[in-house]
Amino acid sequence: MTDRELVEKAFSMLEYAYVPYSKFPVGAALLMKDGTVFTGCNVENAAYGSTICAERTAILKAVSEGHRDDWVRIAVVGNSQDYCWPCGACRQMLYEFCPQLEVLVARKDHDFVKLSLAELLPRGFGPKSLE
Ligand code: THU
Repeated sequence: MTDRELVEKAFSMLEYAYVPYSKFPVGAALLMKDGTVFTGCNVENAAYGSTICAERTAILKAVSEGHRDDWVRIAVVGNSQDYCWPCGACRQMLYEFCPQLEVLVARKDHDFVKLSLAELLPRGFGPKSLE
C-alpha cells in the first residue's frame, strides 16, 4: 500500500468520527507488515475526558486482534488547515509498540508530511525504560 493510499484510507474514516462536542473529526489508518490496515476515528463523550482519539482507536483495534509487533506506518488526518499532529498521549501509545514507526500527517487539502515517531517523540519512555 502506498503512502497516498494509507492517507486516503484515513480520510475515509472522517465520516465515522463521533464529534458532537469539538466538531473536529480525525481519521487514522495503521498499516501492518502483511498489508492489514486497522482504521480508527475519534469517539467523543459527554464526559469529555473519556474521549478516544482516532489513533488510539486504531491502536486498540490492532492490539486486540493480536497485532503488536508488526506495525509499519500510521496515517493521521484531519479537516484542519494545519497538519493534524498526533497528540502527546497518542505519540506515547504508539511508542509502546513501535518506536521506529513511520507517521504520515495530513491536512484538509490532503497534503501530507512523513516523519518518524522518533522525531515526534524523541527520547521516549517505553518498555525498555523499565528494565
Ligand atoms: N484528536 C484525535 O483524534 N487525535 C489526536 O491526536 C488529536 C486530537 C481528537 C480528540 C478530539 O475528539 C478532537 O480531536 C479535538 O481535540
